[in-house]
Amino acid sequence: MAERFVAGDTLDSAVAVARALNEGGFTVSLDLLGEEVTDVGSASSAVDEYVACLDRIESEGLDANISIKPTQLGLAIDESMARKAVVRLGRRAAAVGTTVTIDMEDSRYTEATVRLFEYGQAETDNFGVALQAYMKRTPADLERLIPLGGHIRLCKGAYVEPDEVAIQSKVVVDAAFDQQMRTLMEAESTVPAIATHDSDLLKTARDLGSRRNAPFEFQMLYGVRSDVQRELVAAGFPLRIYLPFGSQWYPYLTRRLAERPSNAWFFARALLSGS
Ligand code: FDA
Repeated sequence: MAERFVAGDTLDSAVAVARALNEGGFTVSLDLLGEEVTDVGSASSAVDEYVACLDRIESEGLDANISIKPTQLGLAIDESMARKAVVRLGRRAAAVGTTVTIDMEDSRYTEATVRLFEYGQAETDNFGVALQAYMKRTPADLERLIPLGGHIRLCKGAYVEPDEVAIQSKVVVDAAFDQQMRTLMEAESTVPAIATHDSDLLKTARDLGSRRNAPFEFQMLYGVRSDVQRELVAAGFPLRIYLPFGSQWYPYLTRRLAERPSNAWFFARALLSGS
């Protein structure tokens, strides 16, 4: 089951999948799986592994960037540790000629993650951050971050959040995404990354993108709606595939199952067939 959504346990396996995706016309964002790290040793090994990942992007000539999770780099331990990690990765990515996207985790970390983006962007100007349409604070975050340059990934939001901080109704989240996407697509100081598999939102995004005179891209998860992914690239739109790898796949897979309960049948079948 994990193999459908994850490019294997090792950097080698991720590089092989990334190369094939590049050949198919997709750019890639490599994500070393791992989150909620509570010991300093694991957080600093994650940074080393990301540096190795950037080294491979360079040596293999991949058209790829990296996506990082703040709590994997020590944010839950100490914000200054995560800052140091962000600066190290930003510098190495800049030397390789690529960018770093900071994933957005649950609402305990939103403000600190926004600060990390501000900090990294001020240092090396090659950062992006994910903002979640379901968060009530996102319109204000867009206003705060759009002028800073870099890129902003807009996604719906994958964590269970309380009513105080996040919109609960799917219809209202979709409307918020639509509105925020329009704000992003009108802005020239940032590169919008529209991260959804939702057909209605994709249709609107294609219209907005066709009229936009500045860079933007679509982003989708590896293994989700591959037919739609191929169709977007065939139509000439830039599409980056978010490509997770590594052994810590369980929380990632759980979120993918929650988004689409029918994936659980796929999961059960895989278990029964022993694959
Ligand atoms: P929605 O959930 O409404 O799905 C629309 C359609 O897409 C479904 O009807 C189904 O056909 C298909 N689909 C969606 N998810 C599927 C799945 N798991 N399996 C099979 N089919 C599926 N979240 C977050 O909180 N922080 C982050 O940093 C990121 N980063 C991120 C990067 C990228 C590139 C993407 C595409 C998404 C994220 N997300 C994320 C996840 C995001 O918040 C959201 O949970 C999922 O993308 C699902 O939402 P959709 O917009 O696809 O719509």
